[in-house]
Amino acid sequence: MSLNTAKKPVIALVGAGPGIGEAVARRFVAEGFFVALLARTEDKLQTMAQGIEADHGKGSAKYYITDLRQESSVLASFEQIRADLGAVSVLVYNAGARRVNGRSILDTSSEEFENFTKINLFGAFWATKCVLPDMLAAGKGTILFTGATGALRGNPGLSSFSPGKFGLRSLCQIITREYQAKGIHAAHIIVDTPVDGKLIGEWSRREWQRRGEGDKLQDIDMHLAAPADLAQIYWFLHTQPRSAWTHELDARPQGVSMFSKM
Ligand SMILES: NC(=O)c1ccc[n+]([C@@H]2O[C@H](COP(=O)([O-])OP(=O)(O)OC[C@H]3O[C@@H](n4cnc5c(N)ncnc54)[C@H](OP(=O)(O)O)[C@@H]3O)[C@@H](O)[C@H]2O)c1
Repeated sequence: MSLNTAKKPVIALVGAGPGIGEAVARRFVAEGFFVALLARTEDKLQTMAQGIEADHGKGSAKYYITDLRQESSVLASFEQIRADLGAVSVLVYNAGARRVNGRSILDTSSEEFENFTKINLFGAFWATKCVLPDMLAAGKGTILFTGATGALRGNPGLSSFSPGKFGLRSLCQIITREYQAKGIHAAHIIVDTPVDGKLIGEWSRREWQRRGEGDKLQDIDMHLAAPADLAQIYWFLHTQPRSAWTHELDARPQGVSMFSKM
């Protein structure tokens, strides 16, 4: 039985964490979407889904425990989403895995390289294959990938991160070139900055204190991207008229210089 009785459009938010993931989910739900939240940790997903439904009403969020390192887990979640909610019309692939402090290639295990690359790239390929048939049948669909500066330049210490992000960018371009004419709007968002989320936001604050740059704490959105502000970009991309589609863009706060990590 469908849980989406109001027949809302469905967004699959893959990599639903408290930062960009939740912010994008909330942005689309506020516009009338039903969000399927995919990640590994049930208690975090439950809290997020309950919070969204508390703010936007029942029938707006449901979670699906998924490990993006396993194709079978991705396929099972998308099958269940289709049965529960109907066809996905927007896919956001937001999951990413990296070390905060990088490691050289010789210090990076093959296991980490494989696991992170599965999260950064393989999961996006599998998720895209799950949603494309319904999107093509509908003659429209939006696919948005969260990228990073590491998608543009390989920097020391990021061997288990950048190759996956490079690949994700390329996958997005391939989706565009294969399916744009059939109504699929794919876009890659290069987040060229630390985000004010749990992990990096808190780490940045500690670093500023340590380096005597505590004044930055008074002016956070000058130095860290606010997830809700980034979420505006995802909505903007989804709602672009087809006469002027963007396929890639980058974003950073006023105080972060452009591609400074390049
Ligand atoms: N944060 C930054 O400063 C920053 C900067 C530039 C780019 N980005 C990009 O932004 C995206 C993430 O945004 P965010 O940092 O704000 O994170 P977020 O949206 O708060 O959370 C992303 C979620 O992805 C989930 N995830 C990770 N591995 C997974 C796996 N194997 N299977 C299923 N889910 C998985 C994690 O949940 P579970 O652990 O529960 O699975 C995590 O909470 C990434 O693509 C990252 O590269 C972030």
